[in-house]
Amino acid sequence: MRIAIARETDSGEPRVAGTPDTVKKMIGLGAEVAVEPGAGEKSGILDADYSTAGASVGKDAVKGADVVLKVRRPTAAELKSYKKDALVIAIMDPYGNQTALKGMADAGIIAFAMELMPRITRAQSMDVLSSQANLAGYRAVVDAAGEYGRAFPMMMTAAGTVPAAKIFVMGVGVAGLQAIATARRLGAIVTATDVRPAVKEQVQSLGAKFIAVEDDEFKQAETKAGYAKEMSKEYQAKQAALVAEHIKKQDIVITTALIPGRPAPRLVSKEMVASMRPGSVIVDLAVERGGNVEGAKPGEVVEINDVKIVGHLNVPGRLAASASALYSKNLLTFLEILIDKNTKALAINWDDEIVKGTALTRGGAVIHPSFAPKSAA
Ligand code: NAI
Repeated sequence: MRIAIARETDSGEPRVAGTPDTVKKMIGLGAEVAVEPGAGEKSGILDADYSTAGASVGKDAVKGADVVLKVRRPTAAELKSYKKDALVIAIMDPYGNQTALKGMADAGIIAFAMELMPRITRAQSMDVLSSQANLAGYRAVVDAAGEYGRAFPMMMTAAGTVPAAKIFVMGVGVAGLQAIATARRLGAIVTATDVRPAVKEQVQSLGAKFIAVEDDEFKQAETKAGYAKEMSKEYQAKQAALVAEHIKKQDIVITTALIPGRPAPRLVSKEMVASMRPGSVIVDLAVERGGNVEGAKPGEVVEINDVKIVGHLNVPGRLAASASALYSKNLLTFLEILIDKNTKALAINWDDEIVKGTALTRGGAVIHPSFAPKSAA
C-alpha cells in the first residue's frame, strides 16, 4: 500500500497534508510513503525532513499511489496523474461544485471530503473543520490586533490610562470560541452572539457576555448535527436591531457565522459599519462563503469611513505550520479506520457512518446522498 502526500498546486494554499510525524505513523500502519518535492515547503517542512522520517521524495510520488493525501480538491490536471480507484482524501469543497465532483467520479477515484466528517465523538480527532477553525479564530484576533491602532488590554501607566478594547464576536462555533478566548487573554472586554442557545453558557464560561434575541425560534435554532439553521426574516430583523445598537460601541468585530451548505448570513450592514468609530476593525472570517459583513472583499483589507474590514482568505493557512500539523493528524486518524491493522492493507467498511458521511465518489459515480444526482440517490 502506497500513500502519497501531494504538493498543493493552488498558490493560495500553503498547507500540506502530511508531516514527518504522520509519515512515521503511516509507515507504522504498513504503508510506503511518497512525497512530492517541495510539498511541505510553505509549512516549514523540508524534503529532507520527510526523507529522515522514512518517506521517499520524488516527482512521481502520486503515480500509482493507492492513497493520495491533499489539502484541496484535485484539479482536472492532477486527476490525470492518479491511478483509477485511488483513494483521494482532501477538503473537497463540494457544495455548488457539481462539475468538479463529476470530474472526480469520471476519473474513477474514490474521493473523501474531510469537511463532511460527522460530528460524533469517535470522529472528533478527524474533524478538520474544528482543527482549522480553531486556528482561524485565534488568527482573526491576532490580525485584528495588527490592524488596530490601540492596545487591547487596559494599561494604567504614569503617562495615563489606555482603555481596554471592546471586542464583539459574532458566531460562536469553534472559531468564535477560540476568538473569545484569545481576545480575553489579550485583556479585551468581550461580548458575543449566536443563534444556538447552547452557546450562551460557553460564552459566559470564557468570561465574555452573551447577547442575543432569545425568542422561541432561538430555542430551536440548533440542528441535530450541532449546526445553526437559517433563521427567518423576522428573526434576522430583530437580530439586526439588537446588533446595530451594540456594534456602535465596539472597537473590534469578529464575524464567524456559517450555515452548512448555504451562503453565510449577512450580519453587519454598511450602516452598522458606518456607525462604528474611526479606527475600528472588523474581521470577516466568513468572507470566502459570501461574507457576514457588507463591504468585505475576499483577500483584501478595505477601509470604509476609517473602519477597516479584514477579509483574508484561507486564514488557517496564515498559520500554515500549525494548520498542517493538525490537518495531517486528522487525516492520519481517518486513515487508521480505513486500514486493517493485521493485514496492513486498505479495508474500507462502507457501512461505517464515518465512511458513509465522507465518501463522495466511487465506481465512477457521485455517491454521497447530499450530492448524488437525484435519480441515483
Ligand atoms: P459553523 O462554522 O458552521 O458556524 C459558526 C457559528 O456561526 C455557529 O456557532 C453558528 O451557530 C453561528 N451562526 C450561524 N448563523 C448565525 C446567525 N445568523 N447569527 C449568529 N450566529 C450564527 O459552526 P462550527 O464552528 O463548525 O461548530 C458548530 C458547533 O458544532 C460547535 O460549537 C460544537 O458545539 C459542535 N461541534 C461538535 C463536534 C463534535 O461533537 N465532534 C466537533 C466540533 C463542533
